Amino acid sequence: MDSIRIRGGKPLYGKIEISGAKNAALPLMVASLLTEETVTLHNLPHVADITMLINLLCQHGVKAHLNGEGNGNGNSNGRAVSLTAKEITNTVAPYEIVRKMRAGALVLGPLLAREGKAKVSLPGGCAIGTRPMNLHVDGLEAMGAKIEIEAGYMVAHAPEGLKGAEIRFDTVSVGATEDLLMAAALADGVTVLENAAREPEITDLIHLLQAMGADIKGEGTDRLVITGKEKLHGADYTVMPDRIETGTYAMAVGITGGKVELTNTRADLIEAVIEVMEEAGLTIERTEDGMIVSRDPETPIQGVDVQTQPYPGYPTDMQAQFMALMAASNGASMITETIFENRFMHVPELSRLGANINVHGRSAMVRGTKELAGAPVMATDLRASVSLVLAGLAASGETLINRVYHLDRGYERLEEKLAACGADIQRVQGEA
Ligand code: UD1
Repeated sequence: MDSIRIRGGKPLYGKIEISGAKNAALPLMVASLLTEETVTLHNLPHVADITMLINLLCQHGVKAHLNGEGNGNGNSNGRAVSLTAKEITNTVAPYEIVRKMRAGALVLGPLLAREGKAKVSLPGGCAIGTRPMNLHVDGLEAMGAKIEIEAGYMVAHAPEGLKGAEIRFDTVSVGATEDLLMAAALADGVTVLENAAREPEITDLIHLLQAMGADIKGEGTDRLVITGKEKLHGADYTVMPDRIETGTYAMAVGITGGKVELTNTRADLIEAVIEVMEEAGLTIERTEDGMIVSRDPETPIQGVDVQTQPYPGYPTDMQAQFMALMAASNGASMITETIFENRFMHVPELSRLGANINVHGRSAMVRGTKELAGAPVMATDLRASVSLVLAGLAASGETLINRVYHLDRGYERLEEKLAACGADIQRVQGEA
């Protein structure tokens, strides 16, 4: 198993190109199940979750064609996939895939809408909480499906097809909003989704579905009105930039000091993150295709309190990274996680690097220290892993991060991007 070795204490200077958003690309790829025609997606990130989802879609009978391609900026990262679901040959999404990647469960709504049946594994427990599927199931049942839970699978039937319905979510859920949007696009009649998630990845999905001929109103709001169509058609679409990768590298500059330009991205996607980074003492200059982030290494980082919220609030996927930044600050910070229970798995690992953090229920009290020091640590989930990378970049001495397959699920060429800006970071093969 690979590890990542970092020798910390080097400020970052240079340019980092941001990849396409994993969390947008996954539902966009699933949307290919809704049509017999080809859906082509550009600016796909090179990360393990994308490959795993392609495998799942191929199992359902989708023909996939993957091409490397330039992104128009003279660089060669980013690739395109063409997905053609001419015939769905299998409506089972197996445990072996869905347990590793929860987004695989998103095939439930589209398969039901197109084929009238689906058997999809429950994702099971996960390092950041229980993550149930009740909102997906209740919503599809309101649209006329019958769903039984049998031996860890959601076994769903809608022999007469799905019908439009009025659905109000009692919790804001990105996945349930995406699943029901896709199902409603092929349902008979009008579906209204109330208290829908407003994350930019939802808007990206709506734009693709519209390009495929879907009738969806209310994008960017929490009330979506979908008038179902009998058929959707193919489309050619470019995946949005990864806002979490953008915020992560911005915080890397925050923790080490230096000046880095982030390109191929959009500042407006991370306004809530920019606000707290500015309060913490980072300087953010917006540019046409991203931003320039800087902090004088001599200027200390200030403590700022943060609470995670659904978009447009501060994202839960940026909570662990901010905790690393606060651990190296000159003050104190209260970080409250409201989206997932048990999303503080990084705390004991950050503590191994010298961080001073006390967890009380859903809040963590972080007292900053300038004394972070390298140590061997273990990655527990995607964002927790990258918080260890950030802390390692600031720590004195050597940090060895084990179980980096978590990082590879969501960050494209992380060590290359950071090394190009002066970080002393390497992948070590075969050590664990
Ligand atoms: C997506 C993102 C993930 C991010 C999360 C919140 C992808 C692939 N993943 O995950 O990176 O951290 O949004 O921004 O895009 N819930 C229920 N019942 C359900 C579904 C969800 O109670 O049926 C709860 C969850 O337990 C959680 C909250 O709703 O407390 C939000 O979860 P959700 O938005 O669904 O997260 P995901 O879509 O899984």
